[in-house]
Amino acid sequence: MLQRDLAAVLLIQQQCYSSDFQEPVEAFESKWTASPDTCWVAELGGEVCAYLVCLPIQGSQLPALHASDFRCAERADWLYVHDLAIGHTARGTGLASVLIQQAKVQRQGLGLQNMGLIAVQGSCMFWRKFGFEVDESERLVSADKLVTFGADAVFMLQRRQSGTAA
Ligand SMILES: CC(C)(COP(=O)(O)OP(=O)(O)OC[C@H]1O[C@@H](n2cnc3c(N)ncnc32)[C@H](O)[C@@H]1OP(=O)(O)O)[C@@H](O)C(=O)NCCC(=O)NCCS
Repeated sequence: MLQRDLAAVLLIQQQCYSSDFQEPVEAFESKWTASPDTCWVAELGGEVCAYLVCLPIQGSQLPALHASDFRCAERADWLYVHDLAIGHTARGTGLASVLIQQAKVQRQGLGLQNMGLIAVQGSCMFWRKFGFEVDESERLVSADKLVTFGADAVFMLQRRQSGTAA
């Protein structure tokens, strides 16, 4: 993801998320600026049509939804899959798998143990296909924090050894 991709990324976000989940451009910029190597876009026909924003996180220091002040931790230990969105025209093309695979390679490159995410908008079954499992231990995300992502938000982890389609 490059600075010039942000306008297209915001349009895809608008298409893909209900208003509660729409992050301001400052939120994207702070995450991308702090960790450009874990943010990607995918193109079809030269147009940006999907994106994935991941963030290296230490322990339970997950950024709040819409936070515009993200800073990378000194000793990150897991990769947070913050936001995957595939624009309508690119759904079902396999780009989701390509982007998740990219994140997995980067996770390994950074020497991080696990990848985790907060599944929203009923996406839990989608993430299961890529080896993510529901984690209710509250070790990384407390129930109080989880509920700030919506009543149906679910924390999921893909452990390093987990079998995965990604
Ligand atoms: C969720 C999302 C990324 C999936 O992208 P996609 O291009 O439709 O996904 P794919 O077609 O590559 O799907 C891969 C597999 O997951 C399945 N799948 C896709 N969306 C699903 C869903 N919501 N629930 C269950 N399974 C789903 C597909 O059927 C496919 O299964 P198969 O391999 O057995 O054929 C896309 O719908 C999206 O951007 N949604 C809006 C943003 C969002 O909610 N992101 C997740 C927030 S945590």
